[in-house]
Amino acid sequence: MSIALVILAAGKGARMQSDLPKVLHEIAGAPMLVHAMMAGQSLAPERCIIIAGHGADAVAGVAINQNSDVEIIIQSEQLGTGHAVDQARASLADFDGNVIVLYGDTPLIKTETLIALNNSLSDSELSVLGFEAKDPGPYGRLITDHDNLQRIVEFKDASDAEKSITLCNSGVMAVAGPLLFKLLSEIDNENSSGEYYLTDIVAKAVAHEAPCKVVRCFETEALGINSRVELAQAEHTFQTRRRNEALENGITMPDPKSVHFSYDTFIGRDSIVEQNVIFGPGVTVETGSRIRAFSHLEGAHVSRGCVVGPYARLRPGSELAEDVKIGNFVEIKGSLLAEGSKVNHLSYIGDATVGARANIGAGTVTCNYDGVMKHHTIIGEDAFIGSNTMLVAPVSVGQEAMTASGSVIVRDVPSGDLAIGRAKQENKTWLAVKLMKKLRALKATKKE
Ligand code: UD1
Ligand code: CA
Repeated sequence: MSIALVILAAGKGARMQSDLPKVLHEIAGAPMLVHAMMAGQSLAPERCIIIAGHGADAVAGVAINQNSDVEIIIQSEQLGTGHAVDQARASLADFDGNVIVLYGDTPLIKTETLIALNNSLSDSELSVLGFEAKDPGPYGRLITDHDNLQRIVEFKDASDAEKSITLCNSGVMAVAGPLLFKLLSEIDNENSSGEYYLTDIVAKAVAHEAPCKVVRCFETEALGINSRVELAQAEHTFQTRRRNEALENGITMPDPKSVHFSYDTFIGRDSIVEQNVIFGPGVTVETGSRIRAFSHLEGAHVSRGCVVGPYARLRPGSELAEDVKIGNFVEIKGSLLAEGSKVNHLSYIGDATVGARANIGAGTVTCNYDGVMKHHTIIGEDAFIGSNTMLVAPVSVGQEAMTASGSVIVRDVPSGDLAIGRAKQENKTWLAVKLMKKLRALKATKKE
């Protein structure tokens, strides 16, 4: 049975206190909407429809960037979740598969859970993902008879007895397409919010004797984010989940709680991630590498056997080949470091290509920016860059070449040469002692 995803993302999210549309607030470096899309994408849907409204341009931009096949439908007035889904009616007129409705503000749903929900349509016509809430708060309540769902009552409309029910609506729903739009045309907005509730289609389905079911998930998966407090809770849940996955996948972390992952971080087995490491988006670390304490990586690829840190910063476009060593207080950006090269102390390497086994001395800077444009530095295989070398790009240092400490290199250095680009040293005989004597004498006269 083919699947169409309909992801609701039109709401303003007033309780976020933000100019940014709610679904674009980030968890682990990706907007909530992207998390929902990624979970839905694992069902290999034939269609993916995003209902946008508040900040529609920004929402559409993010969605299309994630999946260029996505269809954006604008809900210009937010009249409720039922009204939102109904915006897809024309677009899905000829679609006779299953529709899965996801909420853009519910980003932690697991793939397995969505698969189970979809599979449950084999013996129901409408399935709702529910969860047992410790503190059910304002969630909609599921009124059931065993696993048969009778109706959903929104908190605002619930009686005291209904409010005491702890089985809640996650918002995720699976329903056969043609049935969905038939039911949506029957709902009204006569309730305490004056909104068209998607949740009302359950009672309509039951009235048509269409069997409705509850599929259960964990409360942590179902968290719907309406405030920054809940956003922080979702981040916490996501991080806990990722840390556990990493440990289970064979990564050593002496203090997992202090390691922060992005939605797309990939770490190969037998790698070690020390304390207080932060992974921004776009990082892959291959097998057997060690990321030492207090390092910050984003947009970087670290090959097997590398050691990075402590206190290292890898910025986007950092590509480390096997057995590269990056030491403390080193920043790398937009650079390729070939096998076995080393940048061990206090350096900035940006927009550079560093050859195999090259050694970059302490305090080296690739001066890549002239105030207007960025320029490239090339360092050959087995080159030795002396401490405190300024490499003024565009410039190249050939294979097995050296630069003397403290040099400012503005011209290319041929292979095998030693470049010295600094003022010549002079030693003034006994001048240091004489000078000190004079200065002390001067100070003594000032005291009198
Ligand atoms: C909804 C459910 C509630 C459930 C909870 C789970 C309804 C009526 N209620 O309540 O049963 O327990 O989610 O988190 O469905 N949206 C639109 N257009 C609209 C209205 C909403 O796109 O006109 C989108 C929002 O952007 C959001 C999602 O739908 O992503 C849910 O809307 P929200 O207002 O947060 O619903 P809740 O009150 O949380
Ligand atoms: Ca919500």
